[in-house]
Amino acid sequence: MKIYFATNNLHKVEEVQKMLSGDFEILSLKDLGNTLEIPETGSTLEENSLLKARYLHNTFGMNCFADDTGLEVEALDGAPGVYSARYAGKPGDDCKNVDMLLENLKNEPNRNARFRTIITLINDGREKQFEGVVNGKIIDERRGNNGFGYDPVFVPNGYVITFAEMTAGEKNRISHRGISIRKFADFLLTLMK
Ligand code: IMP
Repeated sequence: MKIYFATNNLHKVEEVQKMLSGDFEILSLKDLGNTLEIPETGSTLEENSLLKARYLHNTFGMNCFADDTGLEVEALDGAPGVYSARYAGKPGDDCKNVDMLLENLKNEPNRNARFRTIITLINDGREKQFEGVVNGKIIDERRGNNGFGYDPVFVPNGYVITFAEMTAGEKNRISHRGISIRKFADFLLTLMK
């Protein structure tokens, strides 16, 4: 079964493909000759994920899915949330985003945060969402060189190292994205039965 992913990010496509059996072929916007970024105008991760999936479904009429991820910080009322990629302004810059986060949390004792991913599947016109969450803490300076985004300042609960100090395999086992993809993959497999 072919299923289209509303992304231009081939790393994400590869990550999802690896977690699915050979029954599924994951294709991206690039396979449709479309390299445009789909506008993300929603105010929640759920809305943005749905918007992207609907855009693809309405434009090309095929089975598809989309994802959206954000870092939600308790002391910042859930910010940066849907604005995680462009927290310090456009164009998005990981380094500036982390600087801004640390600045906004200066002298803040509550360091609780979570990463959340929402995947939206549209299959035969039916919409279904899958959530992955990982809770943790924002530390006050960067540690580690792996990963991307806010990884150097995020320590998942139960760990003493940041996401950026983990291997990709270690991170995927516990991460928001890993959890949501596994739920999604398990559901897709039920469709094959
Ligand atoms: P996206 O929806 O996957 O493109 O993620 C939006 C933004 O959230 C990214 O640009 C990053 O700033 C942040 N982000 C998403 N996933 C992660 C992660 O696993 N680690 C660190 N930052 C992330």
